[in-house]
Amino acid sequence: MQTTPRWLIANWKMNGDAAAVRAWAFAVNQALAAQAAPLRAVFCPPAIYLGDAGAALPANARLMLGGQDCHREEKGAFTGETSAAMLADKGCRFVIVGHSECRRSGDCDATVRAKAQAALAAGLTPIICLGEAQADYDNAGTQAALDRQLAGLGALPAGGYLIAYEPLWAIGANRTPAPTEIQAAHRHIKSVLGSSATVLYGGSVHAGNAREILALPEVAGALIGGASLEIASMCALITGATTTR
Ligand code: PGA
Repeated sequence: MQTTPRWLIANWKMNGDAAAVRAWAFAVNQALAAQAAPLRAVFCPPAIYLGDAGAALPANARLMLGGQDCHREEKGAFTGETSAAMLADKGCRFVIVGHSECRRSGDCDATVRAKAQAALAAGLTPIICLGEAQADYDNAGTQAALDRQLAGLGALPAGGYLIAYEPLWAIGANRTPAPTEIQAAHRHIKSVLGSSATVLYGGSVHAGNAREILALPEVAGALIGGASLEIASMCALITGATTTR
């Protein structure tokens, strides 16, 4: 019987519409409710649809809500941005920060850390993404790349955040590192942040490989992009995540 809770974070990125968000939230929550296993699932739809997701869920929903990003400041003249407190106000308990797609648009490690701190100040649990680029991977530079991104995170309260290890070259690419490589990266992250750190894997996770990845003892769960969009494939992931280790 599975005892350690496993995490599934569904990151919809800039996809979907209000009707799809409502239907997905309702159906996936029902699928979760039917599971006895201690699974923790977080739905991160586009921010504009968080209210739709919340409205589709019962008061005691097992499916939790998260934002895809937040601003580092509490409030102010930041056109187009969303604060962590605004996400909390719409029912979020989590927010992804430092996703490689946000890092590509300018978020540096200091910004990611500041966003994580803003999330914590608003009562949210940040899901901090990090991972090596293809060139790092090709040149045996994975650990050094991780070290650069981990450097400022020691100041965050232990246990207050989740880490999502996402090799950039695996995101949306239909390729993943070998299980031994995933284990090595997770072990390295825990050697820096402490063995109690919760580390998830992300990058081309789908129903066909989730069982193997989630069976690795170092892997506390998965952050899923493309394969989370359809209700059926998300439900297959839920089933895969609830098998015994
Ligand atoms: P993917 O995306 O599952 O589509 O590879 C993961 C992510 O970007 O977090």
